[in-house]
Amino acid sequence: LKNIDRPGWLEGKRVLVTAGPTQEKIDPVRYFTNPSTGKMGFALAGEAARLGAAVTLVTGPVQLDTPPGVDRVDVTTAEEMYQAVHDRFGTQDIVIKSAAVADYRPAITYDHKMKKQPGDYVVEMERTKDILKTLGKEKKHQFLLGFAAETTNPLGYGKEKLEKKNLDAIVVNNVAVEGAGFGHETNAAIYINRNFEETELPMMSKQQLAQHIFNQIKLDITHE
Ligand code: CTP
Ligand code: CA
Repeated sequence: LKNIDRPGWLEGKRVLVTAGPTQEKIDPVRYFTNPSTGKMGFALAGEAARLGAAVTLVTGPVQLDTPPGVDRVDVTTAEEMYQAVHDRFGTQDIVIKSAAVADYRPAITYDHKMKKQPGDYVVEMERTKDILKTLGKEKKHQFLLGFAAETTNPLGYGKEKLEKKNLDAIVVNNVAVEGAGFGHETNAAIYINRNFEETELPMMSKQQLAQHIFNQIKLDITHE
């Protein structure tokens, strides 16, 4: 695994990165979400800016400082993330979807706080839009990179998502591995391109992983 630093190779390019979780409300004081901290996406946005790109970071609710030189758009729900990304997609060169988007949201969101009642409570959930899949259908010149978080069969599911969503590459996280994925400072992953060539990215900081991911993108874009 070689890390070839080519400063400035993204100059004149537009890169959009999504990060963090989404929150799907039941009522004003309760919501569904997941443990994503946004660190991987923020590291990718920072790296893209360092490499010279004009970077837009569309992020769910996270506790992180915006990397220098990055244009940040805050969203809360999967639907808001869809709108923010979709509106900007046409003008981008590279789009990286590292956000942990909720797959379901409550079918009904109440305006007022629900009062508890005797007995159990069942929440009906409906599907959110698959943002990445929509982008895959609409993509023209864009290089589209997805992420996949898996606990079983990461390679199999990763390749399936790469094909189904018409991606140029996917970064597969095995979140069952100690020290990888949600909330950790480190991550380990496999980068798979559209020819199904796999590159193992061993456990390292999310900052370093972001550098390696952009190296792989560079190799794929320029067919080096
Ligand atoms: N994704 C998205 N919109 C959604 C759900 C997922 O854009 N509503 C994107 C994620 O940002 C990620 C990729 O799709 O880049 C894969 O997400 P993942 O949760 O691993 O896969 P899913 O397709 O949602 O399938 P499942 O959760 O059932 O494994
Ligand atoms: Ca999902």
